[in-house]
Amino acid sequence: MCGIVGYIGEKQAIPIMLCGLEKLEYRGYDSAGIAVIENNKLKVFKTKGRINNLKELLNNNGYNSSMGIGHTRWATHGKPSDINAHPHSSNSNKFAVVHNGIIENYLDLKEELIKKGVKFISETDTEVIAQLLEYYDTGNFVDTVFSVVSKLQGAFSIGIICKDNPDELIAVKKDSPLIIGLGDGENYIASDIPAILSKTRKIYRLDDEEIAVIKKDKINIYNFNKEIVYKNVFTVDWDITSAEKMGYEHFMMKEIMEQPKAVRDTIYPRIKNNKIIFDQLSLSENDIKNLNRIYIVACGSAYHVGCVAKYTIEKIAKIPVEVDFASEFRYRKPLLNKNDLIIIISQSGETADSLAALRESKKNGVKVLSIVNVVGSTIANESDNIIYTWAGPEIAVATTKAYSAQLVVIYLLALYMADKLGTISNDIYTDYINELLKLPDKIESILKRKDELIDFCKIYFNSRDIFFIGRNVDYAVCLEGSLKLKEVSYAHSEAYAAGELKHGPISLIENDVPVIALATQDDLFYKMLSNIKEVKARGAAIFSIAVEGNTKIEQVSDYNFYIPTTCDIMLPSLSVIPLQFISYYVALYKNCDIDKPRNLAKSVTVE
Ligand code: G6P
Repeated sequence: MCGIVGYIGEKQAIPIMLCGLEKLEYRGYDSAGIAVIENNKLKVFKTKGRINNLKELLNNNGYNSSMGIGHTRWATHGKPSDINAHPHSSNSNKFAVVHNGIIENYLDLKEELIKKGVKFISETDTEVIAQLLEYYDTGNFVDTVFSVVSKLQGAFSIGIICKDNPDELIAVKKDSPLIIGLGDGENYIASDIPAILSKTRKIYRLDDEEIAVIKKDKINIYNFNKEIVYKNVFTVDWDITSAEKMGYEHFMMKEIMEQPKAVRDTIYPRIKNNKIIFDQLSLSENDIKNLNRIYIVACGSAYHVGCVAKYTIEKIAKIPVEVDFASEFRYRKPLLNKNDLIIIISQSGETADSLAALRESKKNGVKVLSIVNVVGSTIANESDNIIYTWAGPEIAVATTKAYSAQLVVIYLLALYMADKLGTISNDIYTDYINELLKLPDKIESILKRKDELIDFCKIYFNSRDIFFIGRNVDYAVCLEGSLKLKEVSYAHSEAYAAGELKHGPISLIENDVPVIALATQDDLFYKMLSNIKEVKARGAAIFSIAVEGNTKIEQVSDYNFYIPTTCDIMLPSLSVIPLQFISYYVALYKNCDIDKPRNLAKSVTVE
C-alpha cells in the first residue's frame, strides 16, 4: 500500500525521508517521490519504479532542505507512471501533497475545478487535493487546508507543504493511518511506524478527522471542527520486524484483520445515491442484455471466488455462468460465442495461466473483463475492461483480503447486471445495496471474536485429515477454506458438496475426524443438519458455522461459530472469515512458516 513519510527540523530532509521510504518498501509500491521547500521554492522529485531510481534522480539534481514530504505509491487511480507518482503539486507549484487512501468524490471535485479552468495533468484522485488547495487558497495555510478537507469524502491520510510556509507541514487523517514522530527540535510524519522507528520511538497517533500543524519544535492538533486536541505520547516498544507487521506475528493475520478496510475501499467508492457505478466500464446496457454466457476463469483462491460468483450471478442476474481453472480453460477449446463475456479474476494480474486464457479469449474475439488487485499489471493492461479490487498489497502467500475484495466485486457486478436486466425489483436492489454497505462492520464484528476459534484448533491441529462440507455457496466457501488450510498448515483437507458425501467420501470418516460444516443457507439448513448427522453418526467431530439465531445447529455439533445475518448472496464474505482463522491457528500450532508456506509462490508466473 502507499507509504507516507515527512520531516521538519534542521537536518537534511531528503536522506531522512529516503531512509523512511525504504523502511516502507515491504508494503509494496510501484513509484516513489519527494517534495521539499528550498529557498522558498517547491521542488518535486518523483519517478516510476524503485527508490533507487528516485535516488538517482536526486543525485543528478542536488538538494538542500530541512523539511519535506515523501511517498511510495501503490497505484489505484491511474497506472504506475512518473506523472501519477506522488507528491502532486498545484499548478503554480505552491502546494505539494502526498496521500494514502481514496478520495471517493474526486471525480465530482475534478469536474467542478475543470469547469473553473483548472488544468489536471495526472489521472490520480490525489491531484484534486493539490488543485483544490490552490483554487481555494485564502493566503492562510492552515485555514486553506481546513476548507479543502471539508470538501473531501472517503479515506485519506495526507501530508501537505506550502512554499510560503517553509516552517510548517500539515498532516490530515481520516480512515487511513498516520502518526507523528516526536524528535528533539525536529518532528516526523509517517503512515506506518517502521518509517521513523530508527529516528524516534515517541509518537502521537492521529485519530480520525484530525489535522496536525507541525513545526520543528511545536505541534498543534485539531479536530475537523478546529477544536484543539491533546494527545498522549505513545512509546513504541516493538522492533522493526514486528513494526512492519503492525505488531502482528504474521502478515497473514495482519491481512485478515485488514479485511473490513479492503472490503470498504472496494465497495464504497462504487456506490453513489444507492446505485452501483463502475467508472470506466465500457459494458453498455445493450452489451449486458445481449450476453449469452459468462465464463469465469482463474486460479487458486480467485477460482473459488468464481465458484461463488456462479451461484450469485445466476441467482440474481439470471445469466448462465461457467467457471474454469485457467490452466484447463486455455486447452479445452471452449465453445465461445461473440456474445459471451470472459471474466478473469486475479490478485496479482500476472498469473501465467490466467493471462494465457485472457489472450486465448481475445484471439477468439470475446471481450474480457478482469477483476485485478495490482494496477498496471499485465492482465489489467490487456483486458477490455477492468474492475480493480482495492485490497492493497498482499504479502502473505495465502490470500485473504484480496479474496474478500474479489467477492464483493462479484456482488457489485451481479447487482449491476441484475439492475440493467431488470431481473430484480428496485426494492430488492436497494436492500442488497444497504446490506453491502454494512458488510465491512459485520466482518469487523467477526474479527473481534477470533478467540472463539482457538479451542477447536488447539485440540485438532494435528489431525491427519480435515473435511469441509456445505451446499450451494457454502460449498464454494468450503473449497476456499480447505485450500487455505492445506496451503498454510499442510494438513490434508478436502471440501465436498454435502449431498455428495454418500457417494464415496463418507467412507473416509472415522472416529474423531474433524468435519467443518457450513450451514448458512436458510433454504438448505435442514438438509445440512441431515448431512452433519450422517458424519456425526460415524464418529466425526463437528465444527459448524451457522447464522446467528439458527441454534438448532447445536443439536448436531460439537463446536459452533455463529456469523451475523446478511442477505443470502453475501454470506460467503462472513463465513470465510472463521475458516481463515482456523487455517491460521492450525498452522500456528503446527509451527508452520505461515507467511511463506513451503513450495508455494505468491504469484505463479509459469505454466
Ligand atoms: C497462487 C497464490 C494463491 C492465488 C493464486 C492465483 O497460487 O498462492 O493465493 O490465489 O496463485 O493468483 P492470482 O494472483 O491470479 O490471484
